[in-house]
Amino acid sequence: MALLKIAQIGHPVLRERSREITPEELASERIQRFIDDLVETMRDANGAGLAAPQVYEPVRICAIEVKDNPRYPYKPNIPLTILVNPVIKPISEETFENYEGCLSVPNLRGVVRRFADIEVTYWDRTGETQTRVVHGLTAGTFQHECDHLDGKVFLDRVEDTSTLSTWAEFDRFHKQAFVDRIVPFIQRKGG
Ligand code: NI
Repeated sequence: MALLKIAQIGHPVLRERSREITPEELASERIQRFIDDLVETMRDANGAGLAAPQVYEPVRICAIEVKDNPRYPYKPNIPLTILVNPVIKPISEETFENYEGCLSVPNLRGVVRRFADIEVTYWDRTGETQTRVVHGLTAGTFQHECDHLDGKVFLDRVEDTSTLSTWAEFDRFHKQAFVDRIVPFIQRKGG
């Protein structure tokens, strides 16, 4: 396994629409090894998720995992999930304001509106079709990662640029209010 380099904002690979991958490609040794490397890189960087274009591979694959994440201590745990060719469908009108960050956007966080309830259909890494309903903050993580496959980063969805904050200033001035608001939301939504 290998750690991959993470593309930083300004690199065009983050701005293209990634292409679908075929069942044959997914079964290939190259792509299976790539998925292992994507997971290893995500864990090494303490990411809650990592999308293939973030490591210079513009294909529709992303990894998501939260296990007592030090970057996001309030986030509910999410078992390791590999999404291949995912499609997200909101299943309620409810939205919420999330404070997001991204491994491709150094030292910046900002408030982004996300759907609170989604259904995601995807292939797992063995090529099986899966459909899952995801709620709450976890739904926000899925939307953030899938946005990368369409060349979008969270900054594109920040409605109020006065919410932008470095990680240190987030901790000083915004974290407590965010945690006070988001923890009851996580409890209500179960995610
Ligand atoms: Ni990101």
